[in-house]
Amino acid sequence: METTLNTLLLPVGPHATATAASVLAEGGLVAFPTETVYGLGADAGNASAIARLYQAKGRPAFNPLIAHVADLASARRIALFDGQALRLAEAFWPGPLTLVLPRALSCPVAELATAGLDTVAIRVPAHKVARDIIRTFGGAVVAPSANLSGHVSPTTAEHVNGDLAGRIDLIIDGGPVEVGVESTIVGCFAEPVLLRPGGLPRAEIERVLGHSLVQPPADAEGDNAQPIAPGMLASHYAPRTPVRLNATDVHAGEALLAFGPARVARVELASVVLNLSEHGDLAEAAANLFGYLRILDTRNADTIAVMPIPDDGLGEAINDRLRRAAVGR
Ligand code: TXA
Ligand code: MG
Repeated sequence: METTLNTLLLPVGPHATATAASVLAEGGLVAFPTETVYGLGADAGNASAIARLYQAKGRPAFNPLIAHVADLASARRIALFDGQALRLAEAFWPGPLTLVLPRALSCPVAELATAGLDTVAIRVPAHKVARDIIRTFGGAVVAPSANLSGHVSPTTAEHVNGDLAGRIDLIIDGGPVEVGVESTIVGCFAEPVLLRPGGLPRAEIERVLGHSLVQPPADAEGDNAQPIAPGMLASHYAPRTPVRLNATDVHAGEALLAFGPARVARVELASVVLNLSEHGDLAEAAANLFGYLRILDTRNADTIAVMPIPDDGLGEAINDRLRRAAVGR
């Protein structure tokens, strides 16, 4: 049976930080801003809190969570770092990079959060509010994106409230996030693998490594599939409205998600137009992506047509999310 919680919404500040830390310590669920997207936090060592978190999101428990910590020293108590992993952590933490590493023997993260894998995903977020909450709480915080499973990730507290009000204890409102797409995930195996393109462009990681990141095997799907990044199911980021990619023209009744100064044919047929970045700035486009998808999804359009977006830099993550949005469910 589902119970409805009274979800408290607080603006950022010392009171919010202290409340968040004590709610986490009591096994509660707290949504808070990070620089990438809003996360839904639970005490990483508390299996029953984590079970509630999976339930609140409607997320399958075979899809493991990212442990968020305050610094590299805390991360090293959770996972085993080799030289390459250390170089990446030192270069990019705090920031939008998640590393998948072998669990340390005394890893305090509950097995439920890592779906029984012998690896654990870790990230040190750069957002001041996230860092303050983690430090005040004093331990690792597992935090998936704070949306219902399968929905577009939240970039504002309003998005979180729309998906999770009544299902979680607390939402900290820190305004819109900066990056707008989730962290880049690198599997630190013998050969480092790009498990998910994200807020840290691939080229920056490859520059520090001195070589290319390996591509993950194609998305594994089907009921018993055990994908290597289990959350990367093809239709993960889907709005309800169908999505048409690489649109060079508009069909009657479509909503248009534009990019850059270029025009598309028959733009006058669009029921609504939002431009991710008039100047063609990929960072601005990433920050707008999920919010704009949510807005267009409420406009009763037949389809959301999306103009082509270059695949370099943050474009790789933007196009990855758009392809998943286009698969539908
Ligand atoms: O930017 C982000 O990473 C946000 C903020 C809140 O930090 N979090 C986020 O979490 O995007 P989530 O749960 O939506 O995505 C985490 C991804 C999932 O695809 C999951 O399968 C993968 O990380 N993952 C977690 N642990 C893993 C592991 N041990 N091995 C491989 N993939 C893992
Ligand atoms: Mg997510």
